[in-house]
Amino acid sequence: MWKKIFGGGKSTPAPDGDDLLSNLAVDRERMPRHIAIVMDGNGRWAKAQGRSRSAGHEAGARTLKRIVRAASNMGVEVLTVYAFSTENWKRPHREVDFLLNLFDSFLAKEISEIHAQNVRMRFLGRRDRFTDRFLQRMEDTEERTGHNTGMRFNLAANYGSQDEILRAVRSIAQRAAAGEITPEEIDETFFSNALDTAGDPPVDLFIRTSGDLRLSNFLLWQSAYAELYFTETHWPDFTPEELSRAIEDFAGRSRRFGGLDAHVAGKRKSGRRSRALCE
Ligand code: IPE
Ligand code: IPE
Ligand code: MG
Repeated sequence: MWKKIFGGGKSTPAPDGDDLLSNLAVDRERMPRHIAIVMDGNGRWAKAQGRSRSAGHEAGARTLKRIVRAASNMGVEVLTVYAFSTENWKRPHREVDFLLNLFDSFLAKEISEIHAQNVRMRFLGRRDRFTDRFLQRMEDTEERTGHNTGMRFNLAANYGSQDEILRAVRSIAQRAAAGEITPEEIDETFFSNALDTAGDPPVDLFIRTSGDLRLSNFLLWQSAYAELYFTETHWPDFTPEELSRAIEDFAGRSRRFGGLDAHVAGKRKSGRRSRALCE
């Protein structure tokens, strides 16, 4: 049952290290379906190099391009990355402007390749505060890639999980007030489908680069049972190889979801001693 996780068929050979992934084997059933990444540390990377924060963000965009391709080649079903939070508007105007222009040029440059990889791209977050040009770019991108059947790639921009939850609650409350739904209909699936990630499976593997051990308002509902992977590596230095290490680490973990390990539960059924332990 061990299969190489390098697959996908539609990928073109990557010039920058993705081929190393072909040496990696992970049981397909143990692959994370949904990987979320807090792409943190562009500023610290730049500082360590004696360069501007802008140079750090540009390097981060190059890393994102490589990671999207690698994740798609590995057969990841959903990749969600945190590009700009609802809190990031607190940064100096110059940096905010630089980031928004960078997203725009990233899309302009990369959309053809993303589309060629059969990746479906979608944006999470509030759609206010963006320029008309960028809004149009987002809509065009979603429309152009909307029928692709490969990896789903979510870019969270002007995203905050608490804001997303509140928007969902408000829209559900409005539908209930209008008599379209009853409160009993609101279960976990219903609520999940009211979020920006509607239709996606929950986050399995939550990665944060650059050493800080926090969630920073990213995918709080969706990550209820996510496995967390923190690395000191600054985002611009994050490689497909480190992504595969994170996946291997994930594949080795015991996910119990509040239950018991499968093999412990199995032993308990067959052995007297373990039954005694259970009592
Ligand atoms: C992440 O890098 C990118 C964004 C938040 C947009 P940072 O800019 O937060 O980098 P550090 O945390 O200052 O190193
Ligand atoms: C989280 O990083 C947001 C993104 C990566 C887009 P921040 O750098 O904004 O997070 P804090 O401020 O350290 O929590
Ligand atoms: Mg940061």
